[in-house]
Amino acid sequence: MKKFIKKMPKVELHMHVEGSMEAETLWELAHHNDYKIGYNNIDELKAAYKFNNLTEFIDMYMLGTRVIKSEQDLYDVCMTYFKKCVEQNIQHTEIHSDIRTYVDYGYPPEFVINALHSAFIDAKRLYGITGGFMPCFIRHLGNDVAQQDLELMLPFKDKILAIGLSAIEVGYPPSLFKDTFAKVRDAGIHVIAHAGEEAPADYIWSAIKDIKVERIDHGIRCLDDERLVEYLVETQLPLTVCPQSNVALKIFKDMSQHTLPIMLDKGLNVSIHSDDPAHFNAYLTENMLSIVENTAVTKAGIIQMAKNAINGSFANSERKKELLLNLNNYCNN
Ligand code: ADE
Ligand code: ZN
Repeated sequence: MKKFIKKMPKVELHMHVEGSMEAETLWELAHHNDYKIGYNNIDELKAAYKFNNLTEFIDMYMLGTRVIKSEQDLYDVCMTYFKKCVEQNIQHTEIHSDIRTYVDYGYPPEFVINALHSAFIDAKRLYGITGGFMPCFIRHLGNDVAQQDLELMLPFKDKILAIGLSAIEVGYPPSLFKDTFAKVRDAGIHVIAHAGEEAPADYIWSAIKDIKVERIDHGIRCLDDERLVEYLVETQLPLTVCPQSNVALKIFKDMSQHTLPIMLDKGLNVSIHSDDPAHFNAYLTENMLSIVENTAVTKAGIIQMAKNAINGSFANSERKKELLLNLNNYCNN
């Protein structure tokens, strides 16, 4: 089973690029760029990769953004993740970051957009990996900032696959961003949002009704609302579940308590992703392994979720066919 999962062709739909910065990378970049990170050594920094909730985590996540000082730095962080993708046979990946953080540091919006775009071109050329960039609005900064972010990004819309909503969830429902996401849709950009990670099921309804999401990041709190589960099963709206993130951020006490098997049993369109693999100490393979080792999810469930990830991606239909064929060939051998 371990070997099967390790080598299985995979698709990742929910991964924040700064969340793939291992403590060693963060440390090296801080030194290279002469940035004082406030830790005396790598072990101290690693020991700080422990969180009680999403807000605490976001603080540490932001430290990663502070040590990135050039397009080349961000490109290098992306390429390090793509090398991990090769190891884990991740063939298509859709990656989150945001432009606001870097704009606030004084960089132009194309800083992030070009770094990710160049990295994707090279990932395709070197490794055959496809995917795209999905910037998020930082929800706790509010809708006016989101609106400004959108204006800054629209000139580069050809390099943007989707726009999402991330960061601190409670107190910032998708409804606050209704008019901005209407403009995102008008620009022909896919709409996604983190919803129902820490905040209740209402936030998932709001993502559906107010901003018309095509995919939900997390969505685990949907189980609290029977009518919502029915709706999600009927529409097969994809939910990108990140098991190790949910345990690391104390949404579940441990992996055995994770509700992914229930979600799968109910026929929800769930798939497994890593969210912030370095901070939560688990890339995609490790997330899948942890789920099969600690819950009732079987090999068939893992395969079903790998298919869900392909179908829930924004890859074109030709690429989806190719990814499905790769998976089917692998499973039938
Ligand atoms: N940014 C990075 N990881 C996140 C998460 N799990 N939830 C919201 N925002 C994030
Ligand atoms: Zn996330």
